[in-house]
Amino acid sequence: MKKIYPTISPFPRQDKAYQKLLDDVTRLLVYGGAAGGGKTWLGCEWLLLMCYRYPGTKWFIGRNELTRLMGSSYLTWRRVLKFHSIPDSDWVFNGQYHYIEFVEGTAKGSRIDLLDLAYQPRDPDFERFGSLEYTGGWIEEGGEIHFKAFDVLKTRIGRMMNTEYNLLPKLLITCNPTHNWLYRLFYKPFKEGKLPDGHAFIKALYTDNPYTADSYGKQLDTIIDPTLRARLRNGDWEYGENNSIFNYDAIIDMFTNTVEISNEKYLTGDIARYGHDKTVEGIWQGWNLQQVFWDVKQGIDVTITKTRSRIIESGIPYSHTVLDDDGVGGGAVDSLKGVKGFVGNATPIKRVDPKTKKEIKENYRNLRSQCEFIFAEKVNNHEVSISAPLSEQEKEWIIEELQQIKSTENSGDQPLQIVSKDSIKEALGRSPDFADMLMMRAYFELQPKKVFIQQQQVGGVKSLYEGMPG
Ligand SMILES: Nc1ncnc2c1ncn2[C@@H]1O[C@H](COP(=O)(O)OP(=O)(O)OP(=O)(O)O)[C@@H](O)[C@H]1O
Ligand SMILES: [Mg+2]
Repeated sequence: MKKIYPTISPFPRQDKAYQKLLDDVTRLLVYGGAAGGGKTWLGCEWLLLMCYRYPGTKWFIGRNELTRLMGSSYLTWRRVLKFHSIPDSDWVFNGQYHYIEFVEGTAKGSRIDLLDLAYQPRDPDFERFGSLEYTGGWIEEGGEIHFKAFDVLKTRIGRMMNTEYNLLPKLLITCNPTHNWLYRLFYKPFKEGKLPDGHAFIKALYTDNPYTADSYGKQLDTIIDPTLRARLRNGDWEYGENNSIFNYDAIIDMFTNTVEISNEKYLTGDIARYGHDKTVEGIWQGWNLQQVFWDVKQGIDVTITKTRSRIIESGIPYSHTVLDDDGVGGGAVDSLKGVKGFVGNATPIKRVDPKTKKEIKENYRNLRSQCEFIFAEKVNNHEVSISAPLSEQEKEWIIEELQQIKSTENSGDQPLQIVSKDSIKEALGRSPDFADMLMMRAYFELQPKKVFIQQQQVGGVKSLYEGMPG
């Protein structure tokens, strides 16, 4: 039998990607940018090439929804095979279990699984992929994928004939610009020249693709929405932040910032009201978040007990503790006498300029908006750090939530206001519990400054507060 090997004709940007996909260094490659940048073609053709070069290997194509994988990426797959004159008799598609298998010819024995990467509440940790074994794989439209799906899948490669063929496990991720883990783990480090070994990022533009640049260009020119246009037409990863009051890079920088640590400790807590919400508490030293605790479906009595022991163990004054005071949170505030209750809808707190002693003219709709704006200013000025040991998933939650804290589009003379909690919940699909816990730290910025004396003692520094209200 005559062996056939597909001959590819990538355009220069795809060629760059091939160099990474075929080298002995790269394990994770993100090829991401504008629509029409040749992303899907690259993924299909790379897998085709690998199946033919290395018969018996096993690969996957994963996308958020299998129906969309079938409705678009699979169609490109068929076109790629036709383009390379692969005989129909060489392969079959199993519609029941969704895999492509080469049954004849040079690639005989190779196989590609089509995976549905959608988040399923009954499988939050993507354990359904936990026992799969692949040579390598491709995540299509990575912007739609939960971080955990990526995190699990990257451990499932390098397990099928990689040793026999001396193949490095490789994961290709194609995507449009998205402000999620792709930005944080690939785009930002790429921009700063800090990509870890084995990671690569290639920015793709529709103008790179000579096959369709004209037709895509005409279509993309008609996009009016500026954010969508920036992402899909211009392949711009730093697209507008849609009124988010937080600068995106500044949010991410919190995890690596070092800020001056004061001696003052605080605890801020968002207490769960409903079954699904999380109770999230954070312990701060100055503006550094040192510890984060969260629980789901926890009764208020347990919350009170845990909060009390955290306050005591960390030596936090009760008056340096703030818990939200709506609904269930109020119960905790009542039981822990001396802690502050945070009422988001309360009137903003008047501030006095410490130098001029004059009241600072600020115009906020309510206390919640006031604290969000003050907190955002601190974050954007790189004055907040998070040293608490957090998982990638927890970081992801924080980043996602803060991005949804947007200002309403007011005319200049109206009070500054944050969009309603309901619209934030709608955008996130959950309550912004971490963001609320963080924002409440700003509450202490609004309290009159206290005089305090530091006493050096065996075992550390103890702060003695004087003249503290409440
Ligand atoms: N190497 C190639 N050889 C031949 N044709 C190609 C090649 N790369 C891309 N094309 C052509 O360009 C078209 C657009 O490419 P592709 O679908 O891969 O872009 P995309 O970045 O996935 O676009 P979208 O953002 O719409 O998903 C393909 O349908 C194909 O016709
Ligand atoms: Mg595509």
